[in-house]
Amino acid sequence: MLNTFQQAPHDALPITTADEAARQEFVKSLKGFIQRGILPGLGPIYRTRASARFEAAAGRPPADRHDIRKAMVPDSYFQSYASVNRISQELMWDSVIDSIDRGRDDLEARITAASAKNAGELRIPKDFAVPRYVSALDIHCMPGGYAGHDPATSPALGALYDRGVYLYSMGYTGPNNDDLGRSVCNYIKRNLAGFSPRRILDMGCTVGHSTLPYKELFPDAEVWGIDVAAPQIRYAHARAGAIGLDVNFAQMNAEKTDFEDGYFDLVVSHILLHETSGKAMPRVVEECFRLLAPGGYMIHADLPPFDLMDPFTQFILDNETYYNNEPFWGAMRELDQVAIAKKAGFPADRIRFDTAPMAVMEFAAQEASGYSEDAASGVAERDFTAGEFAPGGGWEVLVARKGETA
Ligand SMILES: C[S@@+](CC[C@H](N)C(=O)[O-])C[C@H]1O[C@@H](n2cnc3c(N)ncnc32)[C@H](O)[C@@H]1O
Repeated sequence: MLNTFQQAPHDALPITTADEAARQEFVKSLKGFIQRGILPGLGPIYRTRASARFEAAAGRPPADRHDIRKAMVPDSYFQSYASVNRISQELMWDSVIDSIDRGRDDLEARITAASAKNAGELRIPKDFAVPRYVSALDIHCMPGGYAGHDPATSPALGALYDRGVYLYSMGYTGPNNDDLGRSVCNYIKRNLAGFSPRRILDMGCTVGHSTLPYKELFPDAEVWGIDVAAPQIRYAHARAGAIGLDVNFAQMNAEKTDFEDGYFDLVVSHILLHETSGKAMPRVVEECFRLLAPGGYMIHADLPPFDLMDPFTQFILDNETYYNNEPFWGAMRELDQVAIAKKAGFPADRIRFDTAPMAVMEFAAQEASGYSEDAASGVAERDFTAGEFAPGGGWEVLVARKGETA
């Protein structure tokens, strides 16, 4: 098994002691063990005993992911899996909070200094209403959620996300946690030949992990990241400064931004939509349509719809809805996203679902072909699996182009 990427250091990250780093590595390994050592046992448990128990009680076999859940929840193996998974999530945040709390003043000073190196704008309005679907719960069990419970919440909450999400993805999203953005950038390079956006907007950017690859790919473009969470936006601005990129960040709601009609040539988001709500998501897509210049592209990288997978896989993925404070995770996968884009104004023949291969997997394959005995085959020797994040090794992208005359 490949020892996945270590996180690339930068000046706005919390500094860990050896003990804290060891605890964080333990959590990362525990998550890996749950994925590779416990999760694969759920299928056999379902097939050999849980479905039979359901059938004996209901008089019919389980029909969909909801029935499968009813069959599995009483099973002790599933209960052990679900509880250790939840514990690993809570331990993960705890392991990062320790290093933030110990060095908070120093961390905040480093965040301020890094922010000063970013020549891009930082906009935090005085009054801002964080939507309830973000403020009402600690999403992913992250203490304080994205936005924090206090308007003056420190940008250290961004540092918590930056380090926490690296541990959550077990290093599979690359040294800069930017695999989503990098994969969509690769997709643009390959599929939208000659497309050279002047202004780019990344909605729901959190700390800008996925935003920065756009500035790297299009260095002359004006790049904006927006998010409803002020601590994340403050940290995003600092992180870009620490990495040496001038990118603009603003606290704004993607349902209704402050930008004028047609301002952007490219509007993207990465795992934003499933964290909104049934009412908000269509509004976000309508806002994308309003913000795009004629001929501009909207690309949302998010969860694959449930109809692309079998009910057991649906059940596994839906565990996030039940045990990781992700209330819209399952419901979003059932929405007809193409119909939503059509309703927002995008021409039907210019909307499609596609797969953007994971940049880290392509990188691993290339590296492997460099030292493979059979380099010509280009087949990765490394065991690099995508885990539950992008089943099949790619991110699902909803791509739509605004008509030239709209
Ligand atoms: C899973 S995170 C996105 C991760 C990020 N795009 C990346 O690729 O690293 C979801 C983010 O969306 C933000 N968000 C949720 N609803 C929003 C909205 N209506 N407008 C802007 N941001 C929103 C949350 O505050 C959170 O930071």
